[in-house]
Amino acid sequence: MIKTRVLAVDPDQPDPSAIAEAAAALARGGLVAFATETVYGLGAVATDPAAVGRIFEAKGRPSFNPLIVHVDGIDQARAFAGAWPPTAQRLAQAFWPGPLTLIVPKTAAIPDAVTAGGPTVGLRVPAPRVARALIARVGLPVAAPSANRSNRVSPTRAEHVLADLDGRIDLILDSGPTAVGLESTVLNLASDPPRILRPGPIGWERLAPFLDVRESIAADASRSEPAAPAGRLASPGMLSVHYAPRTRAVRVESIGRLAEIDWPERAGLIGFVPVDPTLIPEGVERVEFAEPAAAARGLYAALRALDDRRLDLIVVLMPPAGPEWDAPRDRLTRATVPVD
Ligand code: TXA
Ligand code: MG
Repeated sequence: MIKTRVLAVDPDQPDPSAIAEAAAALARGGLVAFATETVYGLGAVATDPAAVGRIFEAKGRPSFNPLIVHVDGIDQARAFAGAWPPTAQRLAQAFWPGPLTLIVPKTAAIPDAVTAGGPTVGLRVPAPRVARALIARVGLPVAAPSANRSNRVSPTRAEHVLADLDGRIDLILDSGPTAVGLESTVLNLASDPPRILRPGPIGWERLAPFLDVRESIAADASRSEPAAPAGRLASPGMLSVHYAPRTRAVRVESIGRLAEIDWPERAGLIGFVPVDPTLIPEGVERVEFAEPAAAARGLYAALRALDDRRLDLIVVLMPPAGPEWDAPRDRLTRATVPVD
């Protein structure tokens, strides 16, 4: 057990002494959780294999799952990329700082612990001031997976990080809830053609104009790669069960199918369209999101809150198909099983 400190920091005007303290903890090989625009990340200096090893230990993360490396700008990204194709430059200029992770070949300065022994590295520039000030202050790239215990729901608030990692990490910089709420889009630029490995806040339709790919790839579901059944995984975060609450959680695709649910006494419902109250038993705890951005922002907090209620069942009435719902649908598919 180590003592986990929580330091409140103003997201707009971060106190330089708080940033300095967090940077010093990182420089010593420690673990610091900080907010990105997507979710809280659990940071360690990316070029320090021992520190990176502590991330895997603290999270209980399997060593085959590589980490995203956070940099403070395009120059630092280029310094740690083994190749930086024109496409990477164009995408970085268009979407960084922002929720887009680019997979490119790595340099020798990025240890195997970060990339799970692979030849590529995922790089991104996070948007929040606090995150970029921290990276700039350390002067080195910061490896950071989501700051949750492995296979649990990603944290969008400092209290979520504390609930999962208290006593296992050095410091949490609490700069309030994250703005976007779902993890970054992961785009593999080391494959031909480029592919989305994890759908996220920046959809395929916004990326495609920057990529030299044929329409057919953009048009169908194969644009996101299924997890390989065995061996080294193309993107291990895409394991089919992931991001899951502890409570049994099932999904249905339409309101009509809610009638087939065998509702226990204590149950919750997460939905994205208004549901006629007569269709569900009284007492079911309901969370409803009206539009995709609100759903992204609030989904993980809602899953954690329902999980904490010790219900016997969480039912998810899935959001409709459509590009703006791709990322929430992806995460909810991994957090639930079909009702049958
Ligand atoms: O928004 C985010 O991406 C957050 C914040 C903290 O930046 N981070 C995050 O990290 O979600 P994590 O470790 O929970 O998910 C990283 C995902 C995993 O699916 C991992 O397999 C994939 O990115 N990934 C990382 N490096 C990769 C690589 N070199 N090749 C393929 N996939 C990679
Ligand atoms: Mg994660």
